[in-house]
Amino acid sequence: MATDPERAEANGVAGAGASESRPAGRRRGTRAEALELIFETATEDDEGFRHGALGAPRMGKTYHMKEVAQEALDRELADLLFIHDCKRLDVQYDAWGPQSVRVDVEDLTSNPISEDDPPVVVFHGAPAEGRKCSVEDVAALGLQQGRQGTGTLVLVDELYHGMKSRMTWAGPAFPEILREGSSQRVSSAWTTQIPQSLPTEAMDLTETVAIFYLQRRSLRYATEMLELEPDAVAAIQSLDRGEFILITADGWNGVIYGPK
Ligand SMILES: Nc1ncnc2c1ncn2[C@@H]1O[C@H](COP(=O)(O)OP(=O)(O)OP(=O)(O)O)[C@@H](O)[C@H]1O
Ligand SMILES: [Mg+2]
Repeated sequence: MATDPERAEANGVAGAGASESRPAGRRRGTRAEALELIFETATEDDEGFRHGALGAPRMGKTYHMKEVAQEALDRELADLLFIHDCKRLDVQYDAWGPQSVRVDVEDLTSNPISEDDPPVVVFHGAPAEGRKCSVEDVAALGLQQGRQGTGTLVLVDELYHGMKSRMTWAGPAFPEILREGSSQRVSSAWTTQIPQSLPTEAMDLTETVAIFYLQRRSLRYATEMLELEPDAVAAIQSLDRGEFILITADGWNGVIYGPK
């Protein structure tokens, strides 16, 4: 497939998109401008935010979410971060040091985060021992924290870890955060490579969705779910690594954000 990112990379192209085929005059935006939009409603309403990111492998979703997480803390939109980071053998969300990493909720209960450390817990399972961390447990604890008054961001890197099977949640807590979390001081963020595996409410209930380059089947699905116009679809097909468009309640604003 000519648009496959691996293939494009193998051919020495930085990402997947054919930038030269991008229509002239399309507006460019910085990552900082994108963050303003992502946090706009939460900042105005003093509530939580709901953000998602779709994209083919290696296009920049995790890179983007690391920044979203740090900014949410810096802007005091969240007092506490719970990050489900079980996709790779290594810890990807490593900016807060090894003292923030726990296997699962049980491990956090027996080893709480010290007052002197950043209010961040990175749940990583214990891949070498074959121990997994459940998204449901992390989300349930996030809801509990929010209801007790601690604004909490629950970030799930690869939301398919929160599915029992295609389009079926593993438990009620993460969908509850999507439905009601923002009024209960719980924000949500998630990424996925395969939007067609998610329950439709994941996209329906997420305020802002960053779309990175998508392969054809995923793009067709996202087009339908998010009612994307043809110019947005063409823009997605032109994206390089680190570039994305943002879909908000108003649709696409015509801007391509990133890579800087
Ligand atoms: N805006 C950017 N500027 C510089 N480097 C970037 C940018 N976005 C992504 N990268 C780099 O590209 C690589 C892939 O990014 P990342 O891991 O975020 O992709 P991903 O979409 O999360 O992939 P996967 O679906 O496999 O998890 C990483 O090495 C990352 O540091
Ligand atoms: Mg990733």
